[in-house]
Amino acid sequence: MSVKGFIFDLDGVITDTADYHFEAWKNLASNYGITIDREFNEQLKGISRMDSLNRILEFGGRKTEFTEAQKEAMAAEKNGEYVKLIEKMTPEHILPGVLDFLTELKKHNYLLGLASASKNGPVILERLNLSGYFDTIVDPSLLAKGKPDPEIFLTAARQLGLKPEECIGIEDASAGIESINKAKMFSVGVGDKESMKEANYRLSNTSELSLEKILNRLS
Ligand code: BG6
Ligand code: MG
Repeated sequence: MSVKGFIFDLDGVITDTADYHFEAWKNLASNYGITIDREFNEQLKGISRMDSLNRILEFGGRKTEFTEAQKEAMAAEKNGEYVKLIEKMTPEHILPGVLDFLTELKKHNYLLGLASASKNGPVILERLNLSGYFDTIVDPSLLAKGKPDPEIFLTAARQLGLKPEECIGIEDASAGIESINKAKMFSVGVGDKESMKEANYRLSNTSELSLEKILNRLS
């Protein structure tokens, strides 16, 4: 089956917001006497805001201490700081090679979708001046399940009017690669060998993104 669309994760693939998420979670967690480091932060990649908070509380041994309303308030506080951090973003924050790759895909009339767990995705694309490249953006607040469930990639394909087998998914998180694979799409992983071990094709970084190389891998 021929490829007609590419579905992108955002954080860590198009731009590197992981540090901003880490900064905001670290500050929130420390208000509750929980210390998180960068190694722990790795397991929050691709994971929704509320699931991330639950993992942090579990890590700090405080999982059962808060009501849903209190947790909503904590997640909103973290997001308030994150939103301030992303206000500073400009097109200079697009990861190397990504703009050329998107331009190449559009030139060849591929449909492009965004499958990010982030509710801030549309704002970030605007700040990066990339909204015009995307034919559809999945609204993560409408999904029943987050990554590693395939729902987000399947929804993106449906919104593009394509079959999953006609799409290629690109991710930097192991939960995201699992989501793509379960959706029965070809998965392209950006990152180290260990976290990308389930990817159908792995790149060390975004500057290696090339339409020709990806299509060669399919055949
Ligand atoms: C993902 C990030 O893209 O979005 C996660 O990798 C983040 O770290 C998730 O928790 C949700 O983001 P937001 O912006 O809705 O809090
Ligand atoms: Mg990511």
